[in-house]
Amino acid sequence: MYKITVINGDGIGKEVMKPTIEILESLNTNFDFVEKEAGKECYKKYLTNLPEDTIQSCRESDSILFGAVTSIPQQKSAIVTLRKELDLYINQRPIKSYYDKRIDFTIIRENSEGLYSYLEEDYGDTAIATRKITYNGCERIIRYAYEYTEKMNKNKITASHKANILPLTDGIFKDTFYKTAKEYPTIEAEDYYIDATAMYLITRPETFDVIVTTNLFGDILSDEAGGLIGSLGLIPSANIGDNTGLFEPVHGSAPNIAGLNKANPIAMILSSCMMLDFLDLKEESELIRKSVEDVILEDRIKTPDMGGTNTTQEFSNEIIKKM
Ligand code: NAI
Ligand code: MG
Repeated sequence: MYKITVINGDGIGKEVMKPTIEILESLNTNFDFVEKEAGKECYKKYLTNLPEDTIQSCRESDSILFGAVTSIPQQKSAIVTLRKELDLYINQRPIKSYYDKRIDFTIIRENSEGLYSYLEEDYGDTAIATRKITYNGCERIIRYAYEYTEKMNKNKITASHKANILPLTDGIFKDTFYKTAKEYPTIEAEDYYIDATAMYLITRPETFDVIVTTNLFGDILSDEAGGLIGSLGLIPSANIGDNTGLFEPVHGSAPNIAGLNKANPIAMILSSCMMLDFLDLKEESELIRKSVEDVILEDRIKTPDMGGTNTTQEFSNEIIKKM
């Protein structure tokens, strides 16, 4: 029996979670889904966007499924706090196009420091944000990225940074990257500045296998990758630490399409596949992945972001039929 904390969240977070749970329930696996609250609607009820009870349940679970939350002005983001509380320092985001076979790479984003530390100070006419980078923080994410490259039988790893303008902070990142490279002599290690990386993703995406980068840069490159493969609704992610994993789509709560039953559930469904892999339920994850791929390639049932007219539920019903 696996205990899974389920945080639906706001907007399309809830809408993509519902069919994902239906798909997981159609498997022959014993899950105990425990629903907990976080986000804007939660804040309206309890004056906190991340109740202690939610954090506690996450700590006691085998893993966590997270929809998406809407941010609230002056409040720390619930997902950023949760990543910190659970020390989920790895953010893994596989980017794969079903139409263009050249595009298949993974972004490994540092998930615990950088500009996501809420270290901002107000000096009246000036405000300062602190970008915190540590050797330890770089070491653990970079080592994970090399290990991942090796495990996936990929040839190349790319570090993306801005060490020309941020010589101290990104200097640590770049140094650690090349120091660690010496321990993995069969992997080709290269680095680019973040702005150049952003361009190369468009002009020659096939040259990337694994990209490792700091927190904010990884966030930005991920949404760019969403544009590259046609929709943000296609990119899943895993937030992993030494004790547990939290699985969520890369997208947010998308208020502009919330309540219309037209959100693409693929990112959330594939996030649940990453959870199944994490729990070592490989056959189950492959079954779902294959069904998603089949339905996409049949090109009959698709949500509006992919050029179709189907609803979230129609798409996921088709997945269950295929399985
Ligand atoms: P967003 O990711 O929610 O939406 C960006 C664009 O992509 C919108 O046009 C949206 O309609 C489209 N889109 C996103 N997911 C889609 C899907 N599954 N199917 C079809 N279209 C999809 O980012 P946005 O608009 O910048 O932020 C909205 C809210 O979400 C904000 O409050 C933001 O803070 C929050 N957010 C939360 C995240 C999380 O909970 N992990 C991550 C990113 C944003
Ligand atoms: Mg983002």
